Amino acid sequence: LVPSPEQRKEEHADLISALPSASVPEGLRKLRLYQGFWLPELFVPAAINLQQRFEPRCDDVIVASFPKCGTTWLNALTFATMARAAYPPAGDDHPLLRLNPHQCLPFLESLFQGGREAELEALPSPRLMNTHMPLPMVSGAVPGCRVVYICRDPKDMVVSRWHFFRRHRPELPFKSIFESTCDGVTSYGPVWDHVLSYWRATIARPDKVLFLRYEELLCDPAGHVRRLAGFLGMSFSAPEEEAGTVDSIVQLCSFGHLKGLEANKIGHLNPLLPIPRDALFRNGASGDWVNHMTPEMASRLDDIVAEKMRGTGFTF
Ligand code: A3P
Repeated sequence: LVPSPEQRKEEHADLISALPSASVPEGLRKLRLYQGFWLPELFVPAAINLQQRFEPRCDDVIVASFPKCGTTWLNALTFATMARAAYPPAGDDHPLLRLNPHQCLPFLESLFQGGREAELEALPSPRLMNTHMPLPMVSGAVPGCRVVYICRDPKDMVVSRWHFFRRHRPELPFKSIFESTCDGVTSYGPVWDHVLSYWRATIARPDKVLFLRYEELLCDPAGHVRRLAGFLGMSFSAPEEEAGTVDSIVQLCSFGHLKGLEANKIGHLNPLLPIPRDALFRNGASGDWVNHMTPEMASRLDDIVAEKMRGTGFTF
């Protein structure tokens, strides 16, 4: 017997209230521990619905990441790469010139939290989507579709996270964000288990999961755009290469360019996250952690992460 939507809501309410809970220093969201991950409470129903109802199409593409690891950039690059026939990246009516990258593709949590799955169903193929969920919450994604994941040195992620949430709570102590990361109690955390969920998947199915690193993307954006396109089965043709399409995509999505656009300067992220949109574009570099952490803090976080990753073959 299929439960009605109302019954399903009730089921979720009981399940959610029985889960361990925690608060986070940034104070915006209560977390619930669902299947080993600290999810924002409001997204636990999304996780359940995603697990039960997400119907992957073989040409779906999901951009996945832990927050503050380069999501905005990868969303922009993937969108620009996939949409380049309809929207030439050097064109002056490109959607990325008037929309924030997050507005160019649906966020799975939002759709599956609020019963808006039909919006996803209605999208033409190939669909491009974004999520911060760890892979077990999007269990249909591998091998059902293609996933592009981006990870980042957790020390820089912590710094980025602190600056981001300070836009909401200016008095937020760095130490509290640092400690909650070390404890694994952060939105979508622990970060090491998040990364490992996609790392294991890319080892098992490299044809289905492309695993990228923010630092490597910074070093060679054009090389990674070519890699991304190849992974998506949309390699650049000789005429495209000659026309400089790859460089146009890199330039369109570059930190300096996106940061300067009106669409990325005004407004807030969304009603659930009352943070100015420009907070998504802060520094755009690697290694800023040295300006915020003592060497002892850095090695403490490095050691915790290394210990959690031991035996997996993964290192940051
Ligand atoms: P910093 O705070 O270290 O500058 P996310 O998009 O997952 O929220 O990650 C945000 C981080 O990515 C921020 O890091 C931000 O500046 C950086 N970022 C955003 N757009 C970028 C781009 N086009 N190129 C490089 N980094 C970018």
